[in-house]
Amino acid sequence: MNRRNFIKTAAAVTAGFYLNPVEIFGGKVMAAENLKWWQRTIVYQIYPKSFADTTGSGTGDLNGITAHLDYLKKLGVGAIWLTPVYPSPMVDNGYDISDYTAIDPAYGTMADFDRLISEGKKRGIKIVMDLVYNHSSDKHAWFLESKSSRNNPKADWYIWRDAKADGSAPTNWRSIFGGSAWTWCEERGQFYLHTFAKEQPDLNWENPAVRQALYDAANFWLDKGVGGFRIDAITYIKKPAEFVDGAPDGKDGLSHIHPLTANTRGILDFLHEFKRKVFDGHDIFTVGEANGVAADELNQWVGANGVFDMLFEFSHVLLPLKNGEIFCRPTPWKLTELKKALSDSQAATRTNGWCPVFFENHDRPRCVNYFFPKDANPVDAAKAMAAILLTLRGTPFIYEGQELGCTNVAWDSIDAYNDISSHAQYEFALNEGYTPEQALEFVHFFSRDNARTPMQWNDKKNAGFSSGTPWLPVNENFKTLNAAAEEKNSDSVLAWYRKLAKFRATHEELISGDFELLLPDDENIFAFSRTLGSKSITTVVNFSTKNIPLPAEFHGKKILIGRKSEDLKPLEIKFFG
Ligand code: GLC
Repeated sequence: MNRRNFIKTAAAVTAGFYLNPVEIFGGKVMAAENLKWWQRTIVYQIYPKSFADTTGSGTGDLNGITAHLDYLKKLGVGAIWLTPVYPSPMVDNGYDISDYTAIDPAYGTMADFDRLISEGKKRGIKIVMDLVYNHSSDKHAWFLESKSSRNNPKADWYIWRDAKADGSAPTNWRSIFGGSAWTWCEERGQFYLHTFAKEQPDLNWENPAVRQALYDAANFWLDKGVGGFRIDAITYIKKPAEFVDGAPDGKDGLSHIHPLTANTRGILDFLHEFKRKVFDGHDIFTVGEANGVAADELNQWVGANGVFDMLFEFSHVLLPLKNGEIFCRPTPWKLTELKKALSDSQAATRTNGWCPVFFENHDRPRCVNYFFPKDANPVDAAKAMAAILLTLRGTPFIYEGQELGCTNVAWDSIDAYNDISSHAQYEFALNEGYTPEQALEFVHFFSRDNARTPMQWNDKKNAGFSSGTPWLPVNENFKTLNAAAEEKNSDSVLAWYRKLAKFRATHEELISGDFELLLPDDENIFAFSRTLGSKSITTVVNFSTKNIPLPAEFHGKKILIGRKSEDLKPLEIKFFG
């Protein structure tokens, strides 16, 4: 199945499955008193490389995070998801790990990490680590040993295969970052598999010693007192029993690896073992990055019989790419589709499991540019998204800078981009016949660098991020868009985030209340209610850039936040009680 059909199939399954979640799971919405700490808090994601540099190296560090804990506290944050801080050659900015139980010197020392944990604890903020267990770096000692011969003790710690009879790669799979998913290794005279870059060889989970080494590493961090784990690219760990070619889906003759290897039967056996040996018995949360889990399997992944507490599901953030283009050509989408995607995942976790709510992360463009028309006022757009994020049911995940309303960059040459996937996207687009201008436009729209530019703390040198030369240029709008300026402005995006965080924390219905989508067919208004017993809050957001009438059902209702009126200005938000 090619990626386009795969997405369509997944969507169709989703539509069918989510209609009757209550029937499927039975049971009731989880009672307020049964909620755990992580179901009541807000998680803030930090990309350490870009957050705050205390040494002038141009790269953010752990001490920079510790220095800003009070800033996060004011946002109502109870946990920080740190993208990888382990030693890494940084081919994929830390997602290529060369030692699972140490800190990369660029980020500081283990003592700095321990201090971050203890300073966080003082403020009620836990640290959540990113486990990248589908693959390691090709510089990890395990891989160096594995590739050295066919009979060393770690010979089968990775996925090795002989060439086809004609000397070509074992299959025609295209890696997620472009090009063949197989790389030839002279020393062994074999190919190794990499779902991502060639510097990220896939680990062989079939080998119990590999699994145990990974569990040991996670337990090392639990012993340090971390508050949980985000588990990277986890749907790829189980490979198919047989490796067969897929139908070519691009002019390179390759076939995208995702539909061919993601979520292979038997994966849950590994994950139940992982849960038993690592997660069970700890007051932590786990959230899996699980691209490729079909909706009718969700109850095996989260909830009472699941393996994780939450799962990042991508249907809502993939909408502007819904044509299934492998490399990110934007396509028109409708508000009704966004509402459906979000309310489907609300419904699927209504009585079993829990939802992480997110619009941004380190792999996504800024939501202001992604979900709104070009003529939308970016401040209003950022606030509109915040209103949805902080009042849906589930744990909100704020990505660094989102609380300031940060926006995309648009650099004028592909050479300016650091993101490995942007280069692959650009090459692929050229190969498919797009012009260099079009290819660059796709990169502007979708590059992961959009989210990775340095944090904008103030209007001073390098936005207050670093006294040295930042590893990635600062977005040039930092003179006006920065935390210090927003601290002073009671109408800023930051002030709005803080206000809503408090609103959420002080209204139990916004935490444990039931969710109901209102006006599902309206293409301008995103409205839903959150109800707990006799208390109910309704969120109403005009997602369009037009002035529209306020629907009659809201006339005369009590306004909790917002303007009293019978119209909705472009991107206007109202909360009714
Ligand atoms: C995940 C990460 C992404 C990384 C990839 C490979 O999707 O979020 O940043 O490049 O896995 O580890």
